[in-house]
Amino acid sequence: MSGQGQGTAPRTDNFEHALVLETARVTEGAALAASRWVGMGDKNAVDGAGTEAMRELLNSLDIRGTVVIGEGEMDEAPMLYIGEQLGQGRYEVDIAVDPVEGTNVTAKGLPNGLAVIALSERGGLMHAPDCYMEKLVVPPPAAGRVHLDWPVEANLAALAQSLERGVEDLLVTILDRERHAELIRRVRAAGARVKLIGDGDVVASLAVGVRGTGVHALMGSGGAPEGVLSAAAMKCLGAEIQGRFIAEDDAMRERFRAMGVEENRVYRTDELAPGGQIVFSATGITYGELLNGVRRFGGGARTHTLVMGYASRVVRFIDSVHLEKEGARVTIRV
Ligand code: FBP
Repeated sequence: MSGQGQGTAPRTDNFEHALVLETARVTEGAALAASRWVGMGDKNAVDGAGTEAMRELLNSLDIRGTVVIGEGEMDEAPMLYIGEQLGQGRYEVDIAVDPVEGTNVTAKGLPNGLAVIALSERGGLMHAPDCYMEKLVVPPPAAGRVHLDWPVEANLAALAQSLERGVEDLLVTILDRERHAELIRRVRAAGARVKLIGDGDVVASLAVGVRGTGVHALMGSGGAPEGVLSAAAMKCLGAEIQGRFIAEDDAMRERFRAMGVEENRVYRTDELAPGGQIVFSATGITYGELLNGVRRFGGGARTHTLVMGYASRVVRFIDSVHLEKEGARVTIRV
């Protein structure tokens, strides 16, 4: 579709129907490219392969897009940098990308590597600085019934009540980091169980937003850009993320001022992802609790994707078989 809309007027009407499956194709492509490097121990190669594929595919969509959450600033990241313009098509969109969320786990062949993207109309995704964000993610029944300013014990009690269970029946995902030692101690002391993860708080948020995964909340700090991507997903799922931007030094405080970000404020899902039209897509690279990773066979590969449209109210799990080698004899399994 490259350039098909060149010279035509930009469109601002609902792009979700036109782009939801195309967006899935973008994360599938990034996951397939990155999957070549699974377990090879080279996180830069993993990221480079995913980024290159994602950029090429985004350029082929019927969009005029601007990257608002990307791989870094223009001078430090050659591809998918913040401000980069992509596509020559008709739909004016803002784009948030994480071509490989969990580069370390992917390079090590461990679970939960993911290719992720969110699209919105212009201004529909917050331009977040590349800092840490304190996060609280809860499933739909608890949306609006917890608050990041409350003590963790109070949030666990509210969450348990929303899910009609005891605190001891909750499982809370937390990134396994030294900075979370006190949080982990308090969650355990309150009686809830803790699932410690090495990396990947976007997929951990998705697992909270979808019932049946066995996890009920995400707590602790992770990347702010990942927080915006998670917000796009939580909005489509009716779940909630609350986030507080953390400035670790004065330079970051200055950046907050320049970007209009308030340091001690709790931002809600709708502020992190205010868009009226949002498409979110994630494809597993390595196996995870919500999505299968890329499974290769002679002549092709199979991918598993979650793609959603907020305004079109659609949540699709897509299981795709990609026949990569022309003429190869392959047997498709159910
Ligand atoms: P990358 O894929 O960019 O390495 O991010 C992985 C991740 O685990 C995110 O999911 C999370 O938000 C962030 O890193 C946490 O940062 P840190 O490793 O510094 O605690």
